[in-house]
Amino acid sequence: ALCHVTNLEIVNKKIAPDGFTRSTVLAGGTFPGPLIQAHKGDHICINVINQLSDTTMNTTTSVHWHGIFQHRSNWADGVSFVTQCPIPPNDNFLYNFTVSDQAGTFWYHSHLSGQYCDGLRGPLVVYDDDDPHADMYDVDDASTVIMLSDWYHKTSPQLHNAPSVNIPDATLINGLGRYSGGPQSSLAVINVEHGKRYRFRLIGASCSPWFNFTMDGHNMTIIEVDGIEVEPVVVDSLPIFAGQRYSVVVTADQTVDNYWIRARPNIGSHAFHGGLNSAILRYAGAPTDDPTTEQGPYVLPFDEGALHPLSDAGAPGIAESGKADVNINFVTGSTAKGLFTMNGVTYVAPPLPVLLQILSGTRHASQLLPNGSVYELPYNKVIEVSIPATELKKSGAPGAPHPFHLHGHVFDVVRVAGSHSYNFVNPVRRDTVSTGLQAHRDNVTIRFVTDNPGPWFLHCHIDWHLQDGFGVVMAEATSEIAAEEHPPGSPLIHLIYGYMINHTS
Ligand code: C2O
Repeated sequence: ALCHVTNLEIVNKKIAPDGFTRSTVLAGGTFPGPLIQAHKGDHICINVINQLSDTTMNTTTSVHWHGIFQHRSNWADGVSFVTQCPIPPNDNFLYNFTVSDQAGTFWYHSHLSGQYCDGLRGPLVVYDDDDPHADMYDVDDASTVIMLSDWYHKTSPQLHNAPSVNIPDATLINGLGRYSGGPQSSLAVINVEHGKRYRFRLIGASCSPWFNFTMDGHNMTIIEVDGIEVEPVVVDSLPIFAGQRYSVVVTADQTVDNYWIRARPNIGSHAFHGGLNSAILRYAGAPTDDPTTEQGPYVLPFDEGALHPLSDAGAPGIAESGKADVNINFVTGSTAKGLFTMNGVTYVAPPLPVLLQILSGTRHASQLLPNGSVYELPYNKVIEVSIPATELKKSGAPGAPHPFHLHGHVFDVVRVAGSHSYNFVNPVRRDTVSTGLQAHRDNVTIRFVTDNPGPWFLHCHIDWHLQDGFGVVMAEATSEIAAEEHPPGSPLIHLIYGYMINHTS
């Protein structure tokens, strides 16, 4: 099918989203990157053009479309050293994929080293013309995306070399915020009209902290979780972890005024004075002033176990833990050097992307690199994965909870953090789940069916932890991954040749 190609230029730029100027790596020259909008069933072609030149940060790149299944287009998943070689400076890579059966709130980000912490993150929304919740809201457009991110005054290479936990300097909402001791720089304003109902699309585009999200004076009705429509649940606060998304319906039914939107991070400054960790909900007709509203009281708490998919609910396989076709119980840990382990192994990026190893004939986990971090999964089977919480030992700071993200799938969370019972009947279905707290001996268990051949990353979405090796690769149905799916001239073939030219001389 014909595809309209959109160019996405990756550039270095100095910006001051919180009033502090620093060098960044940006998609399209803005933070967040441009909103990519599509409709269910659309064929998307994005030409990522690498114009990076600042050698104090990474100058190669690759872009991952977080939450998009990439069915039969694993090569477009954008993960450096798993599905592709990084794109060199002054080169480009055409991501060409179809969002066949998906709609909802997604995002894109660099999947190379700590590069998205330097800025390469943006929203991706797939609208559904037959949205089952369409009668619940009046407004759902580009202006209703609320993207939460942490922000650092140092670059990711500077931070990663430091022997301590990285504490963000600011929380940015839609790319604007303030830092402690900094200037009164502009905050994001979400504009509403009295009497209308809005679908707000919240994106946890964090490198590290999770945010407790609230809006003074307004409840939120959750209708979507990570691209899955759910039965509506009303809350007045919700936790959003790195990688997660929610759509909430908010009715502008309060007095015409300004109201604080608050995103309290679990690390760094928790304060709200002076507009820290905040944005503004502004009714049409209200003055352009900072709000004076008070927070709380919070009486409608979030319960992940109370979220149920709207359709096709129910986990696959036998409704008993440990009784899937393949059961993987991870033991997680951290080393004295502050690296993470999964079943005793720290993930280290292989020299040759896992997909290219598979396409060149290596089929089995024992031969696939990185050694001990690749799990071979059979085709069309029910997989159960259990992940315990673990603390980060480095400098004694808490590393848990850890939000785990699986590429290429959504999964059923048959055991949510904080619960000791299982739900196989109507569990929450999502693509990023938090393991909760080690102190509570939290442990999450997920199920999915291997219907999507390809090597897929499963990793902690705290980007600093992924850099410290907290991930594995699920090599799903390797025998079904055929080179014929990669037509001559496709970017993948181009990269294989590029790799051979670079490594055989
Ligand atoms: Cu949001 Cu491995 O990614």
